[in-house]
Amino acid sequence: MNETEQRVAELNQLLHEYGYAYYVLDKPIVPDAVYDELLHELIALEKANPSLIYPDSPTQRVGGAVLEGFQKVTHQYPMLSLSNAFDEGDLRDFDRKIRQAIGDNFSYVCELKIDGLAISLRYENGVFVQGATRGDGSVGEDITANLKTIRAIPLRLKEPVTIEVRGEAYMPKKSFESLNAARAQRGEELFANPRNAAAGSLRQLDPKIAASRNLSTFIYSIGGDGEAYGIDSHGEMLDYLQELGFPSNRERQACATVEDVLAFITKWTEERPNLPYEIDGIVIKVNRFSHQDELGFTAKSPRWAIAYKFPAEEVVTKLLHIDLTVGRTGVITPTAILEPVQVAGTTVGRASLHNEDLIREKDIRIGDKVIIRKAGDIIPEVVGVILDQRPEHTEPYKMPEHCIACDSDLIRIEGEVALRCVNPACPAQIAEGIKHFVSRNAMNVDGLGEKVVEQLLRERYIANAADLYLLQVEQLVQLDRMGQKSATNLVEALEKSKENSLERLLFGLGIRHVGEKAAKILAEQYETMDALMAATNTELTNIHEIGDKMADSIVAYFDNEEVKLLIQRLQGVGVNMTYKGKKVVVEAGANPFAGKTIVLTGKLAQLTRNEAKAKIEELGGTVSGSVSKKTDLLIAGEDAGSKLDKAQSLGIEIWDENRLIEQLQQ
Ligand code: IVH
Repeated sequence: MNETEQRVAELNQLLHEYGYAYYVLDKPIVPDAVYDELLHELIALEKANPSLIYPDSPTQRVGGAVLEGFQKVTHQYPMLSLSNAFDEGDLRDFDRKIRQAIGDNFSYVCELKIDGLAISLRYENGVFVQGATRGDGSVGEDITANLKTIRAIPLRLKEPVTIEVRGEAYMPKKSFESLNAARAQRGEELFANPRNAAAGSLRQLDPKIAASRNLSTFIYSIGGDGEAYGIDSHGEMLDYLQELGFPSNRERQACATVEDVLAFITKWTEERPNLPYEIDGIVIKVNRFSHQDELGFTAKSPRWAIAYKFPAEEVVTKLLHIDLTVGRTGVITPTAILEPVQVAGTTVGRASLHNEDLIREKDIRIGDKVIIRKAGDIIPEVVGVILDQRPEHTEPYKMPEHCIACDSDLIRIEGEVALRCVNPACPAQIAEGIKHFVSRNAMNVDGLGEKVVEQLLRERYIANAADLYLLQVEQLVQLDRMGQKSATNLVEALEKSKENSLERLLFGLGIRHVGEKAAKILAEQYETMDALMAATNTELTNIHEIGDKMADSIVAYFDNEEVKLLIQRLQGVGVNMTYKGKKVVVEAGANPFAGKTIVLTGKLAQLTRNEAKAKIEELGGTVSGSVSKKTDLLIAGEDAGSKLDKAQSLGIEIWDENRLIEQLQQ
């Protein structure tokens, strides 16, 4: 080793050590300035000698280019979730069942439930090679580049082990506050809470963004069999993870009884506000692996652990008045306008009142002191009224009888709680429909905010979505606060949106009950607007995910003359009406399914047909409905009939379901 090589190795070693002390142990051993100086020295040496850049060098945390999308990762061991306990009763039930199964000679480990997002990290011979989100538990997304930017995640372990670990990535409260303050200053949308901010940061395709967000992490388990590492309890596992260099949360406690567990919960309910990161509950786990094995798993979660969830924070404020809006489908939604108040990390000035029934049931009156909380920790809602603080002379709230936008009679459709304006020409509904049409998950037209849409309608530049595509720069510049540049950009954005794949248009049209997911399924299935418009009710309900209500709504929608005209006009201005989604191309031979034509027949016991089909397609196979010379493989479930006979006579390879599952898991 020459001198430079030696120095580079030394700098790597020192920076790993200092970084570990700072980010994992939270106990810096050198001043920041020393760390920075050494880092800059390493950067300079690496720049002059690129061959000396170690893949796990501390300079390589923000490497790589902006990604085009995230690759899918099939987890080697499924990432399960925990069942929840909401009160003492649930916890006592959990405890009782455990004692029934394994007796009284055991203990729990209680841990904080970190409010972030679950991650899985894979190390090969001690080097971090891949990090993924939970996804649906079996397939997640590869977010390695973003996770590398989290300094608490070791790039190299203290021992050269091959291991998969699980933990929670989170945004500390301080980072969240400064991020939101900076966003507010730039007029950008704020994150609702640290969890959303952490998830949003790790979902960025440019790792530089994640790097700027100051995320951190706690690792709480090994994926797969802990016993393979010579340990036999959860507590020992946490110690081992710590020895390997992982950040593990210190605030854990062994508890012998459910009383001890409840005391731990009480303690952290009180101390929760003083922690530098958000927690949303306490996780309780049976300690010994032999006991865990005895208890086993349900389909979704282990029987040996449970998550106690803290109740949502509730605060009291004053109801100033009730705002009414007309939605895209004519539903009148009342919103409580409140004296601004802090709830679970953000200031709340509005809360949903859902509908007239809720207002009546809770007898919510203007001027009342109301209790507010965030449902699912995100959407503020009114829980109830403090009756003994009600001011004098208040009146029960009455919803209007006429639409606030077009004055037509409001009606209540049988079986629905909502009050509706059914005038299809109601300007508020049209405006909301167009806002939805251009919104990010629909046609995604940049620069066409709510105010611009409202002005375009008011000035009669547009009357429907198709008119948007006829807008000229010269017209747009006449709108308030619309310069030449924004007008040109807007016309370009509209032009670009014409190329969108069919599912965006379908979602944008706002067909009742057709959300984003259904729009995607319809587009994939029918491929063109014409084909979908010709679809019958029976045909639609034959699609697994489409129910009667949605099928009825789709057929009725396309049966409407005005809709037909709108589609014609959209087609006329050049809006794409076909599905452009690409099937994933997996190279033939990459796995037993890639490039093969496969037929499923008979009853499958462990997978549904759709699941099997989806898995095969994901691996690059094509699933066909009938056996022919072109068929490569037949999967025969129980009671397979004529297709099996035909495949046999054609000499086609035949597998049973077990073989299929075995191969899918490879
Ligand atoms: S143990 C088998 N421990 O809470 C699942 N989970 O459903 C094992 N979480 O999204 C999970 N802190 O990511 C465990 N100390 C902790 C945790 C924790 C947060 C998250 C986890 C999952 C959810 C549980």
